[in-house]
Amino acid sequence: MDAFIIKGGSRLSGRITADGSKNASLPLMAAALLADEPVTFRRVPELSDTANMARLLGELGCDAKSGGPGVFTLSNVDTSLTHARYDIVRTMRASICVLGPLLAKRKRAAVSMPGGCAFGARPVDLHLRGLEALGAKIELNGGDIVATADRLKGATVFLGGPFGSTVLGTANVMSAATLAEGRTIIESAACEPEIVDLANLLNAMGAKITGAGSPRVTIDGVDQLGGADHPVLPDRIVAATYALAAAITNGEVIIDDFPYDYLLAVVDRLNLIGVHVDRQDENQDPTCCTVKITCDRRLKPTIVTTQPYPGFPTDVQAQMMALLCFAEGNSIITEKIFPERFMHVAELTRMGAQLFRQGPTVVVQGNGRLVGAPVMASDLRASASLILAGLAAEGETIVSRVYHLDRGYVQMERVLASLGANIERFNPDEVAEPLKKAEPPLVETVKPKSLAGKPG
Ligand code: EPZ
Repeated sequence: MDAFIIKGGSRLSGRITADGSKNASLPLMAAALLADEPVTFRRVPELSDTANMARLLGELGCDAKSGGPGVFTLSNVDTSLTHARYDIVRTMRASICVLGPLLAKRKRAAVSMPGGCAFGARPVDLHLRGLEALGAKIELNGGDIVATADRLKGATVFLGGPFGSTVLGTANVMSAATLAEGRTIIESAACEPEIVDLANLLNAMGAKITGAGSPRVTIDGVDQLGGADHPVLPDRIVAATYALAAAITNGEVIIDDFPYDYLLAVVDRLNLIGVHVDRQDENQDPTCCTVKITCDRRLKPTIVTTQPYPGFPTDVQAQMMALLCFAEGNSIITEKIFPERFMHVAELTRMGAQLFRQGPTVVVQGNGRLVGAPVMASDLRASASLILAGLAAEGETIVSRVYHLDRGYVQMERVLASLGANIERFNPDEVAEPLKKAEPPLVETVKPKSLAGKPG
């Protein structure tokens, strides 16, 4: 139950490198279940989510051998195992992406149905519909999705849902179709770079996938898949988060391995408000290059609407909201992927943010001032927005439950401290009584009196 204590006001400056992508690593690791030979991954971020995926794969007879920081090899040693238990799945929804590979390779998969999520309903109906279209028999049994099929058969699958395409749904169906008999066409497939990275791995293992990165993906099934050695692409959400951290402190930061070409929608909005993301060398690969982040003193407001890739990513919405609190004027943020994804609004409001929500839209009345306060992390990106707010707030902010952050950011406090932030991780259970008091007793926090009573 670690927490961060942040003293705001330091301008960030220095140089960092973007880690490998969490959201690419998870379906990539699951795809190793399809292989008859070992698969090696490089630049895998050392996060609780990737550790959980390795643990889940281990329980499915797919062992991980470390080859040094961010490098490990997965080998299938016991292919009789097909059950992904609730205990692991409940800690990480992305466990669902073992469903397709297990079913295609081992003809049976029992995966606990993922439960609720901090930002609302997250059904997996599209995953199931896609696998049923390939001939799988699917039933729900004791909270488990149980899928069986002798051999999947290629088919045309429409994967579009009420909020557009599904990323992990595309990963599941595309992975499963690699070992199906005949051709599969996925229409309304997700176009995210993480899906392209997965297709690149599967093709390196011997699959026949074309069109990844476009809404129509074609997979010609093969009888078996071999091994591969695959570097994971940089994490565009982590890179964007640090770019916004630089901007919110009016800092000057250089970021290496920045996936510029995968963040054009974010760069577009940043340029509009007065934040500059300048490539340092035009000869570098634009999907993994060096950029310099600087920003005008006065930020302009803007309109942000989250959309499936290549639109503005929902995973940067919360961080952008924190930044726009410092714009001069009203901004409008509309969340079109997860309409309830606003756990950060109440916490930012505790820091003095002027936020007015109507359904999936929040008006951000930029007033250029936040004040430090004890706040609670709720989900990965909401937590990141509270950290950014704390960096720019007056006074001290305590962000509790940062285990949410550790799911997607490798030692964030160290990265930010290396750029000059005044931030520390501590365990409230181990510190002296006074700090413990900082943890907000739920009811009291709401009463005006308690605020006035607080020191500092
Ligand atoms: C992936 O989740 C990411 N997670 C999420 O990042 C990200 O927010 C999301 O894609 C959207 O970009 C990983 O890659 C591990 P979806 P995923 O299926 O695949 C609805 C983070 O912060 N839907 O593309 O689970 C769904 O409810 C995480 O790193 C259905 O209706 O998201 C949502 O409204 C959070 N039925 C929309 O589609 C389905 O069967 C998009 O969800 C599946 C999804």
